[in-house]
Amino acid sequence: MAVTVDPITAARTAPGRVPIARSVLMCRPEHFTVVYRINPWMDPALPTDTDLAVRQWEMLYDTYVGLGFDVQLIDPVDGLPDMVYAANGGMVVDGIAYGASFTHPERQPEGSAYMEWFAQNGFDVAEPENVNEGEGDFLLVGDTILAGTGFRSDSKSHEEIARIYGREVVTLTLVNPSFYHLDTAVAVLDSATGQEHIAYLPSAFDEPSLEILRARHPDAIIVNEEDAAVLGLNSFSDGYNVVIAARAKDFERQLRERGYNPIGVDLSELLRGGGGVKCCTLELRR
Ligand code: ARG
Repeated sequence: MAVTVDPITAARTAPGRVPIARSVLMCRPEHFTVVYRINPWMDPALPTDTDLAVRQWEMLYDTYVGLGFDVQLIDPVDGLPDMVYAANGGMVVDGIAYGASFTHPERQPEGSAYMEWFAQNGFDVAEPENVNEGEGDFLLVGDTILAGTGFRSDSKSHEEIARIYGREVVTLTLVNPSFYHLDTAVAVLDSATGQEHIAYLPSAFDEPSLEILRARHPDAIIVNEEDAAVLGLNSFSDGYNVVIAARAKDFERQLRERGYNPIGVDLSELLRGGGGVKCCTLELRR
C-alpha cells in the first residue's frame, strides 16, 4: 500500500527544524507614503495607498501573533514614512540596543525615536558612533554577525558592533543598488548556534564576499533573481516557520524541501518603499 505524506507533515517531521517563538518590534504604517527616493524601488511620482499598506502590514502582524510571537509596537511618527521598516531602527542582542544612525537625512530622526523606545522598554542603549541602519545590515547567525556595507552602513560600524557585542563580525559588500541592505540579499533561516542556515542571492555581492559566503555556508539555499526581485529574501524565520513574500515561489519550494514551513504574505504596497517582511520586523533579543 502506498503511503503518501503531505509536504507540511513531511516538513514537521524533518529533523532539526525547531520553531522558537520570537520577540519582535513593529511599527504600523499609518504615515506610510513615498515622498522621496533613497533606493531604486521608490518612485514619489506614483501615488501610494496608505490604507492598503496598513491592511497588508496587519496580515504580517496577525501572522506573527498566530505563531506565538511577542509583538511590541512603537508609535509611528507623522513625517517619517519609512518608520514602518523597523529593522532599520537598531540591532538588539543580549538586551543591548545599538542605535541606528541613518545614511539619508530623510530618515535620520528615526534613530532617536527608536532609541527612546529601547530605553523606555528596558534595553541598554548603545549610542552609535558610525553610520549604520541596524538589522537592515546586521544579521545574527549563530554567534556571528553578518554585516553589510556598500550602500548604507559604514564598515566602521562593523568594528563598533564587534566591540559592543563581543562577537565575530563578518563584513560583506553589497554591489547591486536594488539590494542595498543585507537583509534584502540574505535570509537567516536558522540562527541557532551549531545549526546556522541561510539563503542568499549571489549576484548581490562582490567576489570576496561571495567566497566568504560559499566557505561559511556551503549548504545555503541559493535564491534566484526572480524571487529576489520581489524581496523574497527579506523574510523572517523562527527556525521552522519562514514568513516570506507570497510571490517568491521557487524560494517557497526550496524552503519546503529543506524542512521549513514557508508562510507567504503579500506586502506589495510596502515593496514600493523598497521593503518587505524582514524590513518591517526588528528582533528583540533580551
Ligand atoms: N525606504 C526605506 C529605505 O530605503 C526602506 C528600508 C527597507 N528596510 C530594510 N531593512 N531593508 O531606507
